[in-house]
Amino acid sequence: MEELRKKYIEAISDAADEASLEDLRVQAVGKKGEVSLKMRELGKMTPEERQVAGPALNALKDEINSALAAKKAALADAALDARLKTEWLDVTLPGRGRRQGTIHPVSQVMEEVTAIFADMGFAVAEGPQIETDWYNFDALNIPGHHPARAEMDTFYTHRAEGDDRPPHVLRTHTSPVQIRTMEKTGAPIRIICPGRVYRADYDQTHTPMFHQVEGLALGKDISMANLKWVLEEFFSAFFGTHVETRFRASHFPFTEPSAEVDIQCSWQDGTVKVGEGDDWLEVLGSGMVHPKVLEAGGIDPNEYQGFAFGIGIDRLAMLKYGIPDLRAFFDSDLRWLRHYGFASLDQPTLHGGLSR
Ligand code: DAH
Repeated sequence: MEELRKKYIEAISDAADEASLEDLRVQAVGKKGEVSLKMRELGKMTPEERQVAGPALNALKDEINSALAAKKAALADAALDARLKTEWLDVTLPGRGRRQGTIHPVSQVMEEVTAIFADMGFAVAEGPQIETDWYNFDALNIPGHHPARAEMDTFYTHRAEGDDRPPHVLRTHTSPVQIRTMEKTGAPIRIICPGRVYRADYDQTHTPMFHQVEGLALGKDISMANLKWVLEEFFSAFFGTHVETRFRASHFPFTEPSAEVDIQCSWQDGTVKVGEGDDWLEVLGSGMVHPKVLEAGGIDPNEYQGFAFGIGIDRLAMLKYGIPDLRAFFDSDLRWLRHYGFASLDQPTLHGGLSR
């Protein structure tokens, strides 16, 4: 028994890890362990022998068990110590730098446009991107057979089978917001409506989704002269230099008379500069709101009149910031976004300057 004691107590104290400790436990006090087998022999002993051997064996078993437990705790402590030594953390190290995102040129230009028109008393109005064909077309004096409907390459939504109502459309322009605003507030009105519009078109200067800003001013005596001043004021503020404009007679179903507006520019080595030279670039459509459109919006054309315009925002961004291809606007290419994007704290204001 003394031999067994010595053997196991020494082995336990030498055990290097929990696995060898477990092996020792099985060998000594497991079901078929040496101490357990010895205990089985008690039955064959005389009562006198048993009286001596029994308690001694039990004491040995207890001693081995507590040695195992103590060693197990010591091993766990040592393991924890070792881990703590390798896993220390220097909380004074600088954090890992994370690159900031940038403001997309379209968002930037929308903010700039909004700041300029806000200064002239225009509020921002918004409407849904999925429109009824009434708001997108009919109310704007574009009836079903009108060629403008076909020209706009409209995206139509599907109707459920058996539903004969005309399909909704993805709005092809921001002009339906004119009607929605007339219905909501009545005249007088002075708003701009920036937002997304959709047409089935794709090349270097066209994407299926793009951005427009609509303008609408209604009052008792608002004239084409006011339109001209507002737009000239806008372009000069936006481009930060005096910009000549050219109003060309045109036709839109929702305005009468109608004008397309060109801005002065120069072309040099394939790049365009606004506000100099003697070329012209078309940037918007405009005119005096058609009486039928006023009526559709619930406004009496004998009492109120005014102007409207629609500008392509993406086009403005390309011109101002020298961005050659419209399609890249919507590719979400980080290299492009970092190059053309704006710092998030670069909020454009009229007094603080519109951009870097
Ligand atoms: N809605 C026209 C388009 O998308 C642009 C436009 C032209 C808007 C004349 C107007 C306007 O408000 O008066 O092509």
